[in-house]
This record gives sequence, structure tokens and C-alpha cells, in this order.
Amino acid sequence: MREKGPAIVTTPANTPTRFGFASHLFCRECGATFELGASHACAECFGPLEVGYELPSLSRADIAAGPANIWRYASLLPVPSDVASSRNTEPGWTRLVRADQLAADLGMSTLWVKDERDNPTHAFKDRVVAVALAAAVEMGYKVLACPSTGNLANAVAAAAARAGIRSVVLIPASLESQKMAATAVYGGSMVTIDGTYDDVNRLASELADDREDWAFVNVNVRPYYAEGSKTIGYEIAEQLGWRLPQQIVVPVASGAQLVKIDKAFRELIALGLVADTEYRVFGAQATGCAPVAAAFRAGHDVVQPVKPDTIAKSLAIGNPADGPYVLDVVRRTGGAVADVSDAEVVSAIRLLAATEGIFGETAAGVTLGVLRRLLADGQLDPRAETVIINSGDGLKTLDAVGVPGSGPDGAVVGIRPTLAAFEAWESSHAAGTAQ
Ligand SMILES: Cc1ncc(COP(=O)(O)O)c(C=O)c1O
Ligand SMILES: [Zn+2]
Repeated sequence: MREKGPAIVTTPANTPTRFGFASHLFCRECGATFELGASHACAECFGPLEVGYELPSLSRADIAAGPANIWRYASLLPVPSDVASSRNTEPGWTRLVRADQLAADLGMSTLWVKDERDNPTHAFKDRVVAVALAAAVEMGYKVLACPSTGNLANAVAAAAARAGIRSVVLIPASLESQKMAATAVYGGSMVTIDGTYDDVNRLASELADDREDWAFVNVNVRPYYAEGSKTIGYEIAEQLGWRLPQQIVVPVASGAQLVKIDKAFRELIALGLVADTEYRVFGAQATGCAPVAAAFRAGHDVVQPVKPDTIAKSLAIGNPADGPYVLDVVRRTGGAVADVSDAEVVSAIRLLAATEGIFGETAAGVTLGVLRRLLADGQLDPRAETVIINSGDGLKTLDAVGVPGSGPDGAVVGIRPTLAAFEAWESSHAAGTAQ
């Protein structure tokens, strides 16, 4: 098994460095250790690098005294200790919504939705970008860049604008127009590429080797960037009253979010901030891009790349960097990775909206769709306390649900502005509007 557990050393006398209490980088494959700095691949085996820490002892009160954003956990992240005073978008501390009506519909006892729409650009990506930006500035990078399936582009462009630095984002030309508009508005450079996300990612890797002062947040700054997703896990535990849920369902694109939520839970246990209770981690993919679910079902350790074809474009990564580590986490915790069709994604988006007033993006449809599927298959316990992640905002993927009342040419068909016309509409809709 690759996961070696969080190598946490706590000594009260620790003093923060320019990366806080982060102390080294280590290879996730061979365990070799390296100095903190601008590297992301192991010099011994080319495996991906991860940040290791010598954490201080930390109390719940220390954390609660911090700001209502991710920097309340700054001492658990690879960022300078004064990061909260830098110009940043202050993401995080999003709501954990108790979803009783949705739970009743699904026959579950206790269900929570971690609602990442509350972030500055309405997706969890603001968290990872804020951490990447802080580390990149510390390492002397001058430009913030990324290959993106959409939400990351929004977050990079916004964070760079706020920090007053240049941004360059690379996206597939097929992206939702809402996501393009919500990137271009920040004024950085947005380059649309004729190809899939995996093509865009390859180009970004070549550029990262070529442009010395460009920080591609999810490529050459990836070890720091990925740590930002731990804050979702910390917040869930803190918002539950400093305890872990029994089950959690997480959307999987590269897989980093899922792996880091698990890392966060294990760190909180190691630090004595939560009780060491069992939890199961489940991964969610769309059938049109489900390489990790396929590997899970087949019992494989390696993930065979696929060419994505799904409406869940934010999750359309055919060659996921963290795929094997997702498999490790779900197998270690007794979870699973499953996938659902685009039709199930749309139906789940509608269910979440109609039961809880939460309009999630397609990734949320995938996550709730997979929750339903796992319940139906008996793989997930309906009596165990469960959290699902709504990682983004439905306003950015409007095409998935369409506009009701559209005529054949796509225009919305209205009624005449008279009482008689309204009453005629009311009687023709009586069955559908009964309260
Ligand atoms: C809305 C949304 N949810 C989930 C994910 C998955 O994140 P990860 O690549 O960390 O698996 C993404 C990635 O782009 C996303 O945009
Ligand atoms: Zn290595």
C-alpha cells in the first residue's frame, strides 16, 4: 500500500519557516525526501512529491481563534505564518448543511452537504489556489497559471487579480460558456485549446518546463496546491463538533480532493483533535469518464486512461494523477468508487435543488447520483452519518438542466399578462403544482 500515514512529528518548540511547519517534500512512491522548494517529481523514481510536516501541538481553541476562512488551519498548510494578511481571496469556512429532506427522500438517517458554492468563485478550487499562490509567491514565481476543466481557471484568474499578478489559464475550447465568462472577466490571459483536458494538461507540463517563473498551480506547484483540499476535511470535522463522519462521498477528477480529505482526517486523529473513529471514503465519477471506478471494480492498482465523454466537464480528466492513491484510500477505509450516467447526474442535480435549495453543478450531480447508486447497491449504510461534497455551483453548468418552458427555437414561451391567461395556465398545471 502506498499510503504511509501522515508522518507527523509534533514538538512544542517548533518554529515556523517560510512554509510554516512544512519541513520537507517526500516521494509518494519510494519515500525519498527532499528539501522544500520548486519541485514536484522525485529525482529518484519520478514519483509525485508530497509535503511533509513537523507540526506544533495545536488545540481546538487555537484553531477556533483563527479567521473564518482556510487560514484558521494555516499551521497545517505549507504557507508562511502571516499568510492571512496577504492579498488573497480568503476562501473556505463554507456551510455544512444538514440535509434532512434529502435524507428522508433517500431513506437515510443523517446526511450533510458540504456546500462549496460559498467560496469566492463558487467552487472548492479557491482553497487549493490560495495555498498554491502563497507558496508560489514565497518561491519567487511571477505568473500564476494552470490547465483547467473550468473551475480552477475561475479561481486562478480571480486569485491572481486580487494578488496583483499576471495569470495565464489554459482550457479546452469545449468548456461551458459560463465558466469561460467567469474566467475572462478577471482580465488575465485565457487560452482555449482545441483538445481534451488531458491534451491541455500535456501542453501545460511542457510550458512549465519552458517558463521558469510561471507557477502552474496543479503541475509544478502541485505538492503545495493539493494540500489546500485538506481544509475541506478539517472544516467538516470542526463543523461536526470535532468528530469525523462515518461515511463521505467525494467527486473524483484528478482524485486529489478525495486523497487530501482522507489525509486531513488522519492528521486530526494524529494531532488528538478528533477521536480515532472509523470512516469510509467513497469516490464518485461520471460513467463517461470513470477510469478510477473501472480500476476499482476490476481490482486493479493502476488506472487505465480513458477519453472523456460526459456532461460533467469539471470531472472530465481521463488520466487522473491521483487515481492510484484514490484506490488506496477507498480500499483502506472500506469504501468504493462508483459511476453514474449523465441522465442520473441531471436527476440528482434536480433532487438536491428540490429537497435542499442547493443548486449544485454537474460534479454535485455525480456525487449525489453515486450516493444513490451506492445505497441501492447496499454498499453504503443508510443509518451511518454521511457527508457529501457539493464542490461547485449549478449556475456555471446551466446547460445540464436546460431552461424550462423553452419553445422549439430555444426561446422561453410566456403567457399574456392577464388574469384569465394566468388562470388558464393554473388549471393546465394544477396537477404539477399541488402543494
Ligand atoms: C467542481 C469540481 N468538483 C470536483 C473536482 C475534482 O477535483 P480533483 O481533481 O481534486 O479530484 C473538480 C476538479 O476540477 C471540480 O471542478
Ligand atoms: Zn521516488
